[in-house]
Amino acid sequence: MESSHWQLQPYLKERMQLVDSALDRYLPDGETLPAILHDAMRYSIFAGGKRIRPILMLAACEAVGGEVNNVLPAACAIEMIHSYSLIHDDLPAMDDDDFRRGNPTNHKVYGEATAILAGDGLLTEAFILLSNRSVWGDISTATYLEVIHILAKSSGSRGMVGGQVVDMEMEEKPIDLPTLEYIHTHKTGALILAAIEIGALLGGASAEQRQALCRYGEAAGLAFQVADDILDIVADQSQLGKDVGSDQQRGKATYPALLGLAGARQRASELREVALSSLDSFGDSARPLREIASFIVDRSC
Ligand code: IPE
Ligand code: IPE
Ligand code: MG
Ligand code: MG
Ligand code: MG
Repeated sequence: MESSHWQLQPYLKERMQLVDSALDRYLPDGETLPAILHDAMRYSIFAGGKRIRPILMLAACEAVGGEVNNVLPAACAIEMIHSYSLIHDDLPAMDDDDFRRGNPTNHKVYGEATAILAGDGLLTEAFILLSNRSVWGDISTATYLEVIHILAKSSGSRGMVGGQVVDMEMEEKPIDLPTLEYIHTHKTGALILAAIEIGALLGGASAEQRQALCRYGEAAGLAFQVADDILDIVADQSQLGKDVGSDQQRGKATYPALLGLAGARQRASELREVALSSLDSFGDSARPLREIASFIVDRSC
């Protein structure tokens, strides 16, 4: 890689295409029965989306000199889980939102029952993929079992789902900073950290490298949700591709609600510094991770 010519946008685009074509290969096509369900699963996955979790996974692997193709199945699995979490997050019983990834939300198109089941289908599909020995090539059984364990744990009640329940529980209630941080590190941080840790593991990271990358993943994961809270207030709906103002409307616990916009921005930029400093011992191979840390904080969608 010629570092002087390196640019984030073409890198993200190229990685997104790699992930999208793998997702297309791995997911059942829209004609597989029951067609309506597979259609609904594909609708949300291919509606758009930045693919930031799979891209972070590939970038963590790249940072330790690993082979990115080894990471593609796990990268697709994490995007399936993330997309399921968005379908459920948008349901009337949760955030009750109408737009996602520039399109009507899944339940607006397919109805609530099918949307719930499309989410269930995507979650399960992630583990159908990863429990298929043939996708792992020459990766050892111990390694891919560890990958599956990390992904499952970070998605479940001790990770994303746990964060979502506290997010709901704290609507319209006064909240303190530790509880808010719990929500954010779980509902969003857990999957972002998992993306990084899995990329490091599959890339063959040393114990020290893995620890440093996990520090990056924790900071970047929290920063990602702080930025998401800010965007809910300041972003342009058509550019963001999802409802804006939804947090205030539902009385959500957010960083801007607790610290103000300037305080939330300050926190995001401190987290970017933590993420960047975690990469001090890495050379040019960590450039994508460094640039993505800034993108996470400065993005407009
Ligand atoms: C949105 O995630 C939900 C959060 C966890 C903040 P993204 O901002 O990554 O959404 P997509 O995948 O690009 O649509
Ligand atoms: C979502 O947080 C986190 C998950 C989907 C797990 P938000 O509710 O803030 O996400 P958006 O803003 O709807 O994308
Ligand atoms: Mg939510
Ligand atoms: Mg939401
Ligand atoms: Mg949000």
